[in-house]
Amino acid sequence: MAEKIAILVVNGPNLNLLGERNPDIYGAQTLDDINEYISASLHGIELRMAEMDIEVSLSVEFYQSNHEGDLIDCIQEARKNYDGIVFNPGAYTHYSYALHDAVEAIRIPVIEVHLSDISQREEFRRISVIAPACAGQVKGLGRKGYVDAIERLVALITDRVL
Ligand code: DQA
Repeated sequence: MAEKIAILVVNGPNLNLLGERNPDIYGAQTLDDINEYISASLHGIELRMAEMDIEVSLSVEFYQSNHEGDLIDCIQEARKNYDGIVFNPGAYTHYSYALHDAVEAIRIPVIEVHLSDISQREEFRRISVIAPACAGQVKGLGRKGYVDAIERLVALITDRVL
């Protein structure tokens, strides 16, 4: 029997403007395009996992907010209904200790994702105050980063090393 794994993908401020926002940095795809790409990638992840004898049935849901408190509520609530979270906190990455604490407070694993490589951009983007509370970070891979993060979550949740 395949283990059912439910993942929540959470995007923070200004990521609702993907497609029109700095396309040279973030690409031309909208957030809906990226979410469709993630949904379409799930079967491939299941097949790759099956090759490693990890039988999983994946589901994914999406949430985006421009508001720190709403993101905190979402993360707190997610601990009841999901097995793991993929989280792009946007600019909150660099200064929200409240989001760090929300991630630290829950037991389900969270992987931080950034479309761009934050280590190669402005000084203020090089620090993530949320990363220490996360199970991992994926950066600079564009939309594929979300899919890689889901794979890492599945490995963590099923207790496997990728
Ligand atoms: C981002 C990087 C952040 O520095 C920025 O504020 C964003 C997007 C990324 O996905 O590359 O909003 O998280």
